[in-house]
Amino acid sequence: MDNAFQWSASYSVKVEEMDDQHKKLFEIIRELYTAMRAGHGKDVMGEVLRRLVDYTVLHFKAEEKLMEKNGYPALAAHRAEHKALTDKVVTYKKDFDSGTAAMSLELMTFLQDWLQSHIKNIDQKYGDFMNEAGVH
Ligand code: FEO
Repeated sequence: MDNAFQWSASYSVKVEEMDDQHKKLFEIIRELYTAMRAGHGKDVMGEVLRRLVDYTVLHFKAEEKLMEKNGYPALAAHRAEHKALTDKVVTYKKDFDSGTAAMSLELMTFLQDWLQSHIKNIDQKYGDFMNEAGVH
């Protein structure tokens, strides 16, 4: 798991701004994992989780705006994926804040899957389209 949250070129979506935002997401998730392993308390974990939710929302909005601006045909399906992921992470944060969920390896696995499968199966599909539209 220790190497799981490292961005590498295999995650590139061929659009620099989006790659930078994905790197930032990896960074926050790594921070969460490190804090969890170090046994940090609820306050620290809650703060990192809040930043993860905020940055996720910001990133999804920016990515959707980019797709919208360039007339990306699969925008609606991509937006639905974003909504499902946001709902999951927001629900988890609520459960964490109310004490009904703990920071766990299960959550870390979900976040890892999210990064790997969403970026690789969904995000990477827009790379060539954006490049052809002159966005790099
Ligand atoms: Fe980069 Fe569709 O999230």
